[in-house]
Amino acid sequence: MEANIIVGVSGGIAAYKAAELVSSLVKLGANVEVILTPNAAQLVTPATFEALSHNPVRVDTFVQKISREIGHVALAQRADLMIVAPATANTMAKLACGIADNMLTSTALATKAPLLIAPAMNTTMWEAEATQANLRTLLARGAHIVGPDSGSLACGTVGSGRMSEPTEIVAEALRLLGRKSDWEGLNVLITAGPTREHLDPVRFMSNESSGKMGFALARAAMERGAKVTLVAGPTTETPPSGAVLTRVESTLDLLSAMEALCDAQDVIIQAAAPADYRFEAPSGKKLKKNGGEPLTLKLVENPDVAKAVAARKKDNQTLIGFAAETDDALANARRKLTDKGLDMIVLNDVTRKGAGFGTDTNIATLITRRDETECPLMSKRELAERILDAALALHTIQPK
Ligand code: CTP
Repeated sequence: MEANIIVGVSGGIAAYKAAELVSSLVKLGANVEVILTPNAAQLVTPATFEALSHNPVRVDTFVQKISREIGHVALAQRADLMIVAPATANTMAKLACGIADNMLTSTALATKAPLLIAPAMNTTMWEAEATQANLRTLLARGAHIVGPDSGSLACGTVGSGRMSEPTEIVAEALRLLGRKSDWEGLNVLITAGPTREHLDPVRFMSNESSGKMGFALARAAMERGAKVTLVAGPTTETPPSGAVLTRVESTLDLLSAMEALCDAQDVIIQAAAPADYRFEAPSGKKLKKNGGEPLTLKLVENPDVAKAVAARKKDNQTLIGFAAETDDALANARRKLTDKGLDMIVLNDVTRKGAGFGTDTNIATLITRRDETECPLMSKRELAERILDAALALHTIQPK
């Protein structure tokens, strides 16, 4: 493996496991350069890592033993991958905020290489809202996270927070380094999240869609080289940076955004859950109670965006939709595939545990006119890769 890998070690008890990680990467042929935070250097010695990596080890940004180059910038520029293992809660927080107060964090800020983070900390710190928010920020920015695993921790408790085994971190590193750029040159439009239909300025009707699946698809497609346009409804999830983002609110907004954007796309993946109905007569003012009288609201059907997109489909376009079903799932999804003029539909039976809205995992069936492929319980990220594999195959073989 010809790769320049930076291994940043921060000050957790798991720092000793980083030695095995470095040793494995070197055995695979990588040029590994190690950075210790000052706290890590209290737990493990630079000498160990120098011996294992056959390279000088950096601890301090300003102590410059190595030629005239600006240490962290030169190191950052030549890296193909930066791994932070273990990543303590403190280092994760600094990475999320862009704080650059030591050699590790400065290098992370200065590199364009993918960042692979292996968190290690006590369970309460891992579950703390601040850490989870930092995790979401890092994920949204495209960082990759491996672990943490569950097990007995250095603090004597059992729970989540143990650093993944070096073999797992190496496997993830290899996956990232060998990543395919098979979507290069393709324009992809992905819709994500719910839409909202307002009844009055403060009330609306919506659904449970979180946007996670669409954002996972956008992230994966960008990493595989696609130029991604995202059209997203209101979400609390942060969309990945790097995509061209259009925010929409209602299904009618979504329709106009799609009409403006869809002609330029090679592949369109509609993971959004647009509201099927809107209020016939939304009020410009907040509605008041009605003296005990029942309130009757009339809904009118929204246009089907997927059908509208299919109606103007270009010769070279591949259209993919989703079907969220609670009953008669396969039959409904097959019908939607044809009715909506799609080339593939991703069926989620949302009644299954671990599938559907809000979760980080999903269970799906990929249905095309030729075949049906089961995707068992897996992360939305993994499913995104499967969907992209299938979509690319369809896009390549489709009669033009
Ligand atoms: N969709 C759309 N416009 C709508 C409703 C859905 O474009 N008004 C798209 C979704 O983005 C998704 C696919 O159609 O890709 C299927 O969505 P789903 O909610 O499962 O289907 P519906 O057509 O709304 O069918 P129903 O709610 O009757 O099951």
